[in-house]
Amino acid sequence: MEINSETKIYALIGNPVKYSLSPLIHNAAFEELELNCVYLAFKTKNAEDAINGMKCLNIAGGNVTVPYKVEVIGYLDEIEQTAEKIGAVNTIVNKKGHLKGHNTDWIGAIRALEEKTGIKNKNILMLGAGGTARAIGFGVKEKGGNLTILNRTSHKAKELAGEVGCSYGGLDKMEESVDYADILINTTPVGMYPDTKNSLVPEELLKEDIIVFDVIYNPPKTKLIKDAEEKGCKTINGLKMLVYQGAAAFEIWTGKKAPVELMEKVVVRS
Ligand code: ATR
Repeated sequence: MEINSETKIYALIGNPVKYSLSPLIHNAAFEELELNCVYLAFKTKNAEDAINGMKCLNIAGGNVTVPYKVEVIGYLDEIEQTAEKIGAVNTIVNKKGHLKGHNTDWIGAIRALEEKTGIKNKNILMLGAGGTARAIGFGVKEKGGNLTILNRTSHKAKELAGEVGCSYGGLDKMEESVDYADILINTTPVGMYPDTKNSLVPEELLKEDIIVFDVIYNPPKTKLIKDAEEKGCKTINGLKMLVYQGAAAFEIWTGKKAPVELMEKVVVRS
């Protein structure tokens, strides 16, 4: 598609943005659907100025990444209901200067999970209580899962569990918690490049009937995922969540079905 004066611009704001795969995913999708749109990453020094800039330049929408997913809420005109509950925005739509914030991280995670398993009434053990855990925690509760949160800093697990309405504990509760889990979700960076030799879950605790979801996508096969595969567990890696959160954002912006397979192909190739 030729870039011209009608081209709609979608922007990623965050810092750093250098390693983001979102430009790759969305530009491939825009091209596939022959939409006159382009997606660019902006290393952003200040969230408020970035939002004013989006309005001023009539940027059509975009994504928000670390460290602005929470802060940006204060500068938007409207927040979609679930994003408001989660307290974080990763997607913005600009309708005639009215900026609305959405959260598609939880949509991506839940879609990735639901591809492999139901969630309702399942015992779900989630490791971590940071931003990603908030999005997934609310999503899982919304779908009727029985959630337990374990976190290194247990008061943070307590805080998030209080908001979501679920059980919690410190990482010392790992053994008993894994024992009754149907689904195990890692939202911490343990296992992420360059820390690829580590996993928070001792491999001997994994049994083949647990479904293991690691939100890390670099590497796509973390130690946790490899250990789980060896035990014969069904596994889900972070690339799925990445692609599905992008697909959900794309659909909000364009109203068109996202070319998910293509989006997946470009991230796997990258
Ligand atoms: P994100 O937005 O990616 O979720 P975050 O909000 O910084 O990132 O949250 C990171 C989560 O991973 C936190 O729950 C953190 O635990 P603490 O609350 O104790 O900081 C957890 N985490 C990070 N490094 C960890 C490590 N080495 N071992 C265990 N948990 C870790």
